[in-house]
Amino acid sequence: MEDLQGKVAVITGGASGMGLAFAHRFAAAGMKVVLGDIEVPALDDAVTGLRDTGAEVLGVRCDVSDAASVHGLAAATEEAFGAAHVICLNAGVAGSGGLHEQTLTDWEWILGVNLMGVVHGLDSFLSGLIERDEGHVVVTASVAGHTAYPGLGIYSATKHAAAVIAETLYNELASSGSKVGATALCPGFVDTGIFNSARNRPEHLTATLPDLEADEDRATREAFLEMIASQALKPAAVADLVYDAILDGTFWVFTDGRHVENITNRHAEIAERRNPTEGRAITEDALD
Ligand SMILES: NC(=O)c1ccc[n+]([C@@H]2O[C@H](COP(=O)([O-])OP(=O)(O)OC[C@H]3O[C@@H](n4cnc5c(N)ncnc54)[C@H](O)[C@@H]3O)[C@@H](O)[C@H]2O)c1
Repeated sequence: MEDLQGKVAVITGGASGMGLAFAHRFAAAGMKVVLGDIEVPALDDAVTGLRDTGAEVLGVRCDVSDAASVHGLAAATEEAFGAAHVICLNAGVAGSGGLHEQTLTDWEWILGVNLMGVVHGLDSFLSGLIERDEGHVVVTASVAGHTAYPGLGIYSATKHAAAVIAETLYNELASSGSKVGATALCPGFVDTGIFNSARNRPEHLTATLPDLEADEDRATREAFLEMIASQALKPAAVADLVYDAILDGTFWVFTDGRHVENITNRHAEIAERRNPTEGRAITEDALD
């Protein structure tokens, strides 16, 4: 897209973290922003904070795992601001633990938000963009969409899916000559609330097993969170990258070089038909 002034952006998971940073970046460029999010107090605060800057903003309570709820987000957008232009399918949750420990509710929750959230977003908004031949879809994947770290199986499955959906979309749009653009955002570590995702886990999908985290695991987790707070990229920096990618049509957006070696190594293993060697959890890897 060449000019975002006066255009409409819809951001799922827009109440906090990277989604909220996108909203501030887009609003600063003169866009109208619609935030869809499940966490109502954070959503209300986000809307107030944006209005205080003079932005035109709408907050919609939305559960991206529910198709009807995302259709409602699209209808509310249309009613408030008319056609949407930039669609950020960004809502996400993270959970960790070995595949042998995961329950079906773990799978249902994380796939529902991270994978079906993207699917529902495309279902609600993509045909409108294609018909008007204008707009841009940003899918928030992750470096976890390019790696296979132990302990991150469900999350990685959803992020590999998100990345390949975005890539397929890009290929389809390009081969049909559409002016609609697509970006796959693949962040490394960003200082957000993702590491406290359980705050938004619905009651009917609560973990059935008690949290039996060993002392050693707890210490690693605490050190990891300290590293995130002190060293991880801030959401506003990611928002700048996304804003630029929409304007210049960049598809792959990685936020730092931290995981490049692991991704390159995995690609080489596949190309050379070698067995995988990624033996360490992402948290351990991050603490080097
Ligand atoms: N922070 C990181 O290090 C990192 C790295 C790679 C990818 N990501 C991805 O970035 C995206 C944004 O996450 P973040 O890091 O800003 O975390 P965050 O927790 O700050 O923001 C996620 C937002 O999604 C919302 N949300 C959760 N479940 C929802 C649902 N069912 N329906 C609607 N909204 C829902 C939350 O309320 C929250 O506002 C996610 O897709 C995440 O997987 C994050």
